[in-house]
Amino acid sequence: MRFENKVVLITGGTRGMGKSHAEAFAKEGATVYITGNTEEEGKKTASKIQNCTFVKQDVSVEKDWINIIKKIEQEHGRLDILVNNAGIVISKLLGEMTLEEYMRIINVNQVSIFLGLSHSLELLKKGINASVINISSVAGLRTSLGDVSYTSSKFAVRAMSEVAAREWAQFNIRVNAVCPGAIQTPMLMQSNVEEAVKIISEKIPMKRIGAPSELTNVVLFLASTESSYCTGSTFVADGGMILTQ
Ligand SMILES: NC(=O)c1ccc[n+]([C@@H]2O[C@H](COP(=O)([O-])OP(=O)(O)OC[C@H]3O[C@@H](n4cnc5c(N)ncnc54)[C@H](O)[C@@H]3O)[C@@H](O)[C@H]2O)c1
Repeated sequence: MRFENKVVLITGGTRGMGKSHAEAFAKEGATVYITGNTEEEGKKTASKIQNCTFVKQDVSVEKDWINIIKKIEQEHGRLDILVNNAGIVISKLLGEMTLEEYMRIINVNQVSIFLGLSHSLELLKKGINASVINISSVAGLRTSLGDVSYTSSKFAVRAMSEVAAREWAQFNIRVNAVCPGAIQTPMLMQSNVEEAVKIISEKIPMKRIGAPSELTNVVLFLASTESSYCTGSTFVADGGMILTQ
């Protein structure tokens, strides 16, 4: 098993892609911590996964990061794999988006990565072949209408991943970013589902949206020593979407 005895923290692991990552890490022998801001959902998800603990966390709140890192330190003394996955989206045009909405996205998608990296460094230094995977998006590679805040936050995720990779290579901690395209999760399916999927799929060369497991495969590769020479890079899994927009 690829992740036997590994200690893994996945933010936003209660549903969607984070949940898929948690299931896969656990299947491969890891001890998994998932966080999220929805307690009932988190407890339910964790109860169905072996060796999985849910901890309520708002990733944009510093004291919540101090709390989860302290818990992992007390229980394991190290962190091997950190997946900064939690994220939210609000799409509004400039002039319509309020400062409050803009800052909510920036805090949850971007400030959270700064907090996560800052507070986990000492535990990651004690990790074995430690690896950090920060979830960006195709929105972190190219701009689109109505996405001023989401796009800014996801560009920043890639930038922070590169800085951390440069600073932490000396500690044998690798840091990479992953850019999903359109993936079938509650985040994507929150609007007019069938119509939205049809419209999006038409624009993708592979003519379909992705499954969470197709992103999980990328995350597990980056978390494992199979990617031992990869750091500071961005890995795209989008069915070719980025080529057409
Ligand atoms: N689904 C897509 O098409 C898509 C595409 C590109 C990138 N992404 C990115 O992938 C990541 C996962 O997305 P998903 O589609 O699985 O989303 P999702 O909505 O299905 O799940 C989001 C998770 O984040 C958690 N979360 C939300 N706000 C939080 C907060 N303030 N503190 C802690 N946890 C919080 C939720 O509890 C949940 O577990 C996100 O960063 C998202 O931006 C998604």
